[in-house]
Amino acid sequence: MQKKLVPDYIEKLEVYQAGKPIEELAREKGLTKISKLASNENPLGPSPFAIREMTNALWDVHRYPDMFAHQLKSSLCELYKLKPQNIILGNGSEGIMGYIVRAFLQPDEEVVTSENTFIGFLILAKSVGAKLIQVPRKADYKYDVVAMAKKITQNTKIVYIANPDNPTGTYITKEEFDYLMKHVPDHTIVILDEAYFEYAQSTWDYPDSMTYRYDNVLTLRTFSKAYGLSGIRCGYGFGHEYLVGNLHKVKLPFEPSLIAQQGAYGALKDYPHLLRTLDNNREQHEILFDYLASHDLNPIKSVTNFVTLKTGSEEASLFLYNELLNHGVIIRPLRANLMPDHIRISIGTKEEMNHFYEAMSQVLPRYKEKFGTKI
Ligand SMILES: Cc1ncc(COP(=O)(O)O)c(C=O)c1O
Repeated sequence: MQKKLVPDYIEKLEVYQAGKPIEELAREKGLTKISKLASNENPLGPSPFAIREMTNALWDVHRYPDMFAHQLKSSLCELYKLKPQNIILGNGSEGIMGYIVRAFLQPDEEVVTSENTFIGFLILAKSVGAKLIQVPRKADYKYDVVAMAKKITQNTKIVYIANPDNPTGTYITKEEFDYLMKHVPDHTIVILDEAYFEYAQSTWDYPDSMTYRYDNVLTLRTFSKAYGLSGIRCGYGFGHEYLVGNLHKVKLPFEPSLIAQQGAYGALKDYPHLLRTLDNNREQHEILFDYLASHDLNPIKSVTNFVTLKTGSEEASLFLYNELLNHGVIIRPLRANLMPDHIRISIGTKEEMNHFYEAMSQVLPRYKEKFGTKI
């Protein structure tokens, strides 16, 4: 191409890499039994209430959805004791992140965040030419809020915090959040990405953002994780009317779709499904963590629906990833997060986790032979 059509900061971006889809692995290896433990989805699937609402909505897809999403917003208002003007909806919480960068971030403005955090927001921030200031983590993989606070300047537009964080599964405590907020000036917006909130909320020192009222904090949550609706793309955010009002100006009017709105509305009515999801996660998470620890596999303590572990090298990570694929188990190597010497395993059902343990029993002896027992 003769003429440069794309700014440098777009050309430098890399396309986001999602977890390997089940169908792709089935095609590649001719396998029928596949367990996907790669994208932190809800292994129990969606609630039947969500399915019923979405099925009923199919009859109305010749109409545009309600751009005010009255029904879904009313349910969220009731659940969180909020006003509709404080709520923004989008195509997944990443859809809302897209509105955030469009509304608030300009080229060369700074985003302060941690190293190795959720890539989705980092890509979006770079896509508008913002400058990323990524602060190293502490030795225990947690965000270093003291170091982050020191990086905030006149030019800092956004502080991005995934709490809990993906891919480490760690979280910032109430005390750390309070510390950070004391150092955030009025001209800086704090994005609290709480995609895994439901899994972390019972942790005693986890700062549930709904109990705070800061004018410059935007909380993002999603129906993709604990509510089991990744496929329909529906996320929601809370914040001051001023921020939410401006996000609405750049929001595409008919996002989320009719099906997404109805699925999310149905999911909110099924609290028992959420509880079953959290119970399964708690049980299987504990078993997985103990399994990894007892095999000297360095799991990081997490309050989410996944566990990340240190393999020690990219070669070791890819060995585990590829060998497990041969057994029909999909996990996630973390090269894209600049943690090539780590892998992430999402929590599945009991059956899926047993599939993982069976596969590991075949793979581990060769892994240990190649890479040693202690890393
Ligand atoms: C921390 C974090 N935030 C946001 C998202 C995106 O979620 P959504 O499906 O709502 O766009 C993810 C998905 O993996 C995530 O891990």
